[in-house]
Amino acid sequence: MNINRKTFLKNLGLGLAGAGVTRAAAEAWNLPEFNASYPTPYWTAVREGYEIESGFRYLNSGGLGPCSRAVKKYTAQIESELEARVETGHDLLESAREFVGEFLGASVSEVAFVRNATEANGIIAGGLDLEPGDEVIFESHAHPGGSFPWLLQAEKRGVVVKLFEPDPVSVSGNITRIEELITERTRAVQVSHITAPTGILIPVESIAALCRAKGLWFHVDGAQSAGMIPVNFAKMGCDSYATSGHKWVGAPRETGVLIVKRDRQDDVKSVMVGAYSGDVPSLPGLLDYYPGAMRYEYGTRDVSRILGMAEAMRIQEQMGRERIAEHGSMLVKQLRRGIETVADVEILSPNHAQLSSSMLSFRSPRIGYRELFSVLVQDHGLRCRPVSERGLDAVRVSCHMFNTAEDIDLLIAAIKTTVSTA
Ligand SMILES: Cc1ncc(COP(=O)(O)O)c(C=O)c1O
Repeated sequence: MNINRKTFLKNLGLGLAGAGVTRAAAEAWNLPEFNASYPTPYWTAVREGYEIESGFRYLNSGGLGPCSRAVKKYTAQIESELEARVETGHDLLESAREFVGEFLGASVSEVAFVRNATEANGIIAGGLDLEPGDEVIFESHAHPGGSFPWLLQAEKRGVVVKLFEPDPVSVSGNITRIEELITERTRAVQVSHITAPTGILIPVESIAALCRAKGLWFHVDGAQSAGMIPVNFAKMGCDSYATSGHKWVGAPRETGVLIVKRDRQDDVKSVMVGAYSGDVPSLPGLLDYYPGAMRYEYGTRDVSRILGMAEAMRIQEQMGRERIAEHGSMLVKQLRRGIETVADVEILSPNHAQLSSSMLSFRSPRIGYRELFSVLVQDHGLRCRPVSERGLDAVRVSCHMFNTAEDIDLLIAAIKTTVSTA
C-alpha cells in the first residue's frame, strides 16, 4: 500500500510539531539494506531501535508491544510542543486520521481514535440496535476485551450470546461453524481476526461474504492483527474493525482505532458523546453527529499518543508490512521446528499456512503453564504470556519485528531444559 506521507506531515506544520520531528525520528533508526538471503543484520538493527533491558527477551507483543525509541521520542516531542503552548492539538488529528485510514485500508471518514480495542468493541456491541432475544455469534476463544462488551449487552438488553469453537486445522471449518449457529434471530457476528490464546488467523473475508448474504453485522476484533500482518479494511469486507495501537503496531499505550463503514455509521449509535462527536445548534436540541466515524470520539484526548500511533504505523510502512509479517512467521516456524519433536511438548497453534500467525502457544503435561511461564522469564529472561483462557493452560510466544532468530534459539533451549528437568 502506498501511504500518502505528505498528507500526514502537512498538518503537523500548523505552528506546532513540524516535519523536523518526524525526520529526526526516522533518522534515529539507521537500518541497513535488507538482504533476503541474510536478513540477520537487518533485524538486529531493528532490535537496536528499542530500549528493552539488555538480556531480557520480550516475546509478548500480543499482550503489550514496546514502543521503539523513535516512537517514544516523537511522541514526547509532540507532547512537549503542545505543552509549551498549552494546546490540545486536536486539529492535528485530522492528518493522522487520514494516514491511519490509509494504513488500515479505510477512508478518513471511517476512522475513530479510541483508547484501546476493548473500547472499540464496546462501541459496536453497545451501539447496534438490538432487542431482547437478538443473537450474536463470536468465538469461544474471544479475549475479555471482545467478549465482555457482549456479555454486558446480554445483561442489559437480553442479547443472546452463541459461541463457536475456532477451527485450528480447517479454514472452511471456521465458516461452517458460524453458519451452523445462524438463526432468524442472529443480528451480528464478531470474530477475532487473530485469536488471542493460540493465534489462529480467522478467514475474515469469507465470513464477511457469509454475513453480507445473511444481512448480519460483521465486526472484526483486530487487536492482534494490525501491525502483525497487513490489514485492509475495505478488502476484508466487514462492517467494523477494532484494533489496539499498543500491541503489534508499537504505538504508545492507550491508543486504538475503530473503523466503521461510512454508509453503516447510522446503525451504530455512539455510547458516549461530547465535544467533537457532533453539534447541537442550540440547547435543548437534537444532536447533529459529525458525518464520519469521528462521531464516536468525545472530549479532550492525548493527541501526542495518537500521533505517536500514526508515527509507529509510518515506521512499519517504511520497513514493509509484508516483511514484518514474514519475519514473525519465520520465527514461529523456527520455534515449531525446535520444539515439535521434544518429548512432552504439545503445540496448540495451527500448522497451516492460511491459519497460522506470528504467535505460537504450547504446553507440557510435565509442568504447569504458570510455572513454565515463570521459569522462562525468571531463569532465562524470556518473557512470554501464560494462557489461562478456556483451560488451555499454555504459554504463548509472540514473534515480532524486534525479535531475532537468537531469541528463538534461546527459547527453544530453555523449553527443552525446563520440560526435561520438570
Ligand atoms: C483479541 C483481543 N481483543 C481485545 C483485546 C484487548 O485489547 P485492549 O487492551 O487494547 O483493549 C485483546 C488483548 O490482548 C485481544 O487479544
